[in-house]
Amino acid sequence: MEKREQLYSGKAKSVFRTDYADKLILHFRNDTSAFDGEKIEQLERKGEVNNKFNAFIMQKLSAAGIPTHFESLLSAQESVVKKLTMLPVECVVRNIAAGSICKRLGLKEGIDINPPTFEFFLKNDALHDPMINEFHIRSFGWATDEQIKQMQSLAFKVNDVLKALFAKAGLLLVDYKLEFGVYHGQLVLGDEFTPDGCRLWDAQTRKKLDKDRFRQGLGGVVEAYEEVAHRLGVDLS
Ligand code: ADP
Ligand code: TMP
Ligand code: ASP
Repeated sequence: MEKREQLYSGKAKSVFRTDYADKLILHFRNDTSAFDGEKIEQLERKGEVNNKFNAFIMQKLSAAGIPTHFESLLSAQESVVKKLTMLPVECVVRNIAAGSICKRLGLKEGIDINPPTFEFFLKNDALHDPMINEFHIRSFGWATDEQIKQMQSLAFKVNDVLKALFAKAGLLLVDYKLEFGVYHGQLVLGDEFTPDGCRLWDAQTRKKLDKDRFRQGLGGVVEAYEEVAHRLGVDLS
């Protein structure tokens, strides 16, 4: 496969065209951003850890019958993926209260959310990714009714698969963000699943092992990602 020109460079990944019209190369950079790009730092090894972590999780999800864009690992920091037409919405599933829902609803961090809840956000950094509902999505044409239903059902299916996977590694899956796109008419999970876009706590101590370490200046960010990878059995060599 030939790597062609850069199509897009986001906050943490760069996207390249290839000699196949329907395949892209995702390059996971060391850049780490928080607060919609307000805080940015380079963290050594993060790109490689996230690339390998994402490959591991996407393969587990595919094996469980969830359609994903992941094709193969190409190098330490790059993967080949299907080229999707991304929907401009972010899907968040929450099992435990943390982050924005605590502020919005006055919840205490750490309380169980039962049953798990689901929220849509508009992918728009300039507007700080505002929360939106299904009516907004329909009225403004960001996705169809069918795609809304599929995003919700796939997001909860991901929860069943990953809660169990992380539990076996002694970890709580607190919440996570997913992005979907369309490939030859089919809704497919895109982007990434890494500790940059989810919250993971040690099940015993509730130590934070995700990007909140960066957001809150707790240090040991990549070390925490590596610990999670190690516990899951992700090959980081
Ligand atoms: P952001 O755009 O939020 O700064 P990233 O730095 O992670 O995020 O950039 C990656 C971009 O690539 C995101 O905008 C994401 O929506 C997009 N993307 C992810 N997977 C695919 C895919 N399979 N096809 C097309 N675009 C993708
Ligand atoms: P929040 O508590 O800030 O709403 O985030 C919920 C989860 O989704 C958390 O694990 C971080 C992730 N997330 C992103 O990675 N990017 C985003 O743009 C949003 C809105 C959430
Ligand atoms: N996607 C957001 C960002 O990187 C998530 C966060 O605020 O951490 O800016």
